[in-house]
Amino acid sequence: MLGFCLVILFVNAASIDYGAALTKSLLYFEAQRSGKLPSNQRVQWRGDSALNDGKDDGIDLTGGYYDAGDNVKFGFPMAFTITMLAWSATEFESQLNSKNELKNALNAIKWGTDYFIKAHKESHVLYGEIGEGISDHKCWERPEDMTTPRSVYKIDEQHPGADMAGETAAALAAAAVAFKESDSGYSNQLLTHAKELFDFAKKFPGVYTSSIPVAGKFYGSSGYEDELLWAAVWLYKATQDKTYLDYINEKSSSCGGTRLNFSWDDKYIGAQVLIAKDLLENKFAGNESTLLNEYKKNAEEFICNCIQKGHNNIQKTNGGLLWWDYWNNLQFVTTATFVITTYADTLSATKNSLQCSSGNVEPSQLINLVKSQVDYILGENPQKMSYMVGFGTNYPQEVHHRGASIVSIKKDKKPVGCQEGFDQWFKRNAPNPNVLVGAIVGGPDNSDQYNDSRDNYKQGEAATANSAPLVGVLARLAS
Ligand SMILES: *[C@@H]1O[C@H](CO)[C@@H](O)[C@H](O)[C@H]1NC(C)=O
Ligand SMILES: *[C@@H]1O[C@H](CO)[C@@H](O)[C@H](O)[C@H]1NC(C)=O
Ligand SMILES: *[C@@H]1O[C@H](CO)[C@@H](O)[C@H](O)[C@H]1NC(C)=O
Repeated sequence: MLGFCLVILFVNAASIDYGAALTKSLLYFEAQRSGKLPSNQRVQWRGDSALNDGKDDGIDLTGGYYDAGDNVKFGFPMAFTITMLAWSATEFESQLNSKNELKNALNAIKWGTDYFIKAHKESHVLYGEIGEGISDHKCWERPEDMTTPRSVYKIDEQHPGADMAGETAAALAAAAVAFKESDSGYSNQLLTHAKELFDFAKKFPGVYTSSIPVAGKFYGSSGYEDELLWAAVWLYKATQDKTYLDYINEKSSSCGGTRLNFSWDDKYIGAQVLIAKDLLENKFAGNESTLLNEYKKNAEEFICNCIQKGHNNIQKTNGGLLWWDYWNNLQFVTTATFVITTYADTLSATKNSLQCSSGNVEPSQLINLVKSQVDYILGENPQKMSYMVGFGTNYPQEVHHRGASIVSIKKDKKPVGCQEGFDQWFKRNAPNPNVLVGAIVGGPDNSDQYNDSRDNYKQGEAATANSAPLVGVLARLAS
């Protein structure tokens, strides 16, 4: 009888299937694909879309990703998404491989990087947005029968955007690391683009929303220094070229201080954590400048704040979720858990612990924090709801997503018009006809409440940037 009880307890404790969640998280990227879908497309309710993107400008800009619930291709968050997917794939390569998901992760990265290569037309020209938020949001249409303008927006020497060029450089450099073993030719190609974009960003400073104002209302950027640093860190990782280390070490490059969050807008924490890991691993042998240690100190302070042992701890809900914002809180949770996971593993491998102002933290305690956050997301929360769509039995049914909320074009080819989509599908008080498997929605509020309603975009819209960091974390927890 005792043995029987122990078995039950064990099964209970291990009830969350991280491997299944990992598989689903990668399927989500297929549902967000723009352009001509490949023959190995697994998400079958989607069809080809936006096949003329760029045509009016005499350039092929098909491909890439829709960022969230609409049909705009926003280059800035798309680049961050690819950087985090690539970081997931480089950091947790063996774990992804052991779960048979490395190929899918690389395919998800390549869907983005192939597009960036097309968008980086000349060394100092980068297309940064296709379609436009205001006109797109006036319609509720499947991407497959979009009728909204597909205007193209770019940055160049006269209209710079060091943040967007920098983030795209980071994405391409990180992807170059991810592809190094499996496809060295492609990896080199990515690296060439990354280097050119970094030089472009360095020589032509400024935020991209001054050059592409239509992006400002949706993905306004608060600065470009963080993207330059982040790009330099990834380029140093990809090349070991001292030029990039010099940039990281320059007095003019700010280490950012202790940041509040890590997101598509603010990459300091990512850069700080990468530098801190290299310091722990002694990769700067003999060259540990004061500034390098400053990066590490700030990375660690953020992690201490997450585990509630720092000077400025991150708020937590009663249900135990780290909490930053009413609007898409989970994007901050997934990036934070990613950096905590990878830092915990490096601390552990180098036999270190984390020194926080209110005590020492062992790597295993950091992993426990990560597990608590991921378990919350996957359903262990006061609502007993999984905020990963399609995971478990109770998950959001009315995700704010045009494609998912309208009957699949594979089932009904009749085009759904701009206003018709609102009247017949958006306003329908019923579950979405297509399950957006693997998507991470914005998530609950600070009292662990979630309102599953299609017009509740602050909680119920999923974004590619939410899922990308989780790919690495899930691979790590599944193994
Ligand atoms: C560290 O400094 C030495 C001597 O200045 C130099 O040869 C070496 O390349 C540097 N290492 C790195 C990682 O920059
Ligand atoms: C995230 O950090 C930025 C600073 O980079 C800050 O302006 C913003 O308010 C923070 N957002 C949240 C939700 O914490
Ligand atoms: C949920 O959202 C819907 C639509 O915005 C609203 O009508 C309803 O009152 C909300 N319910 C709760 C409990 O907040």
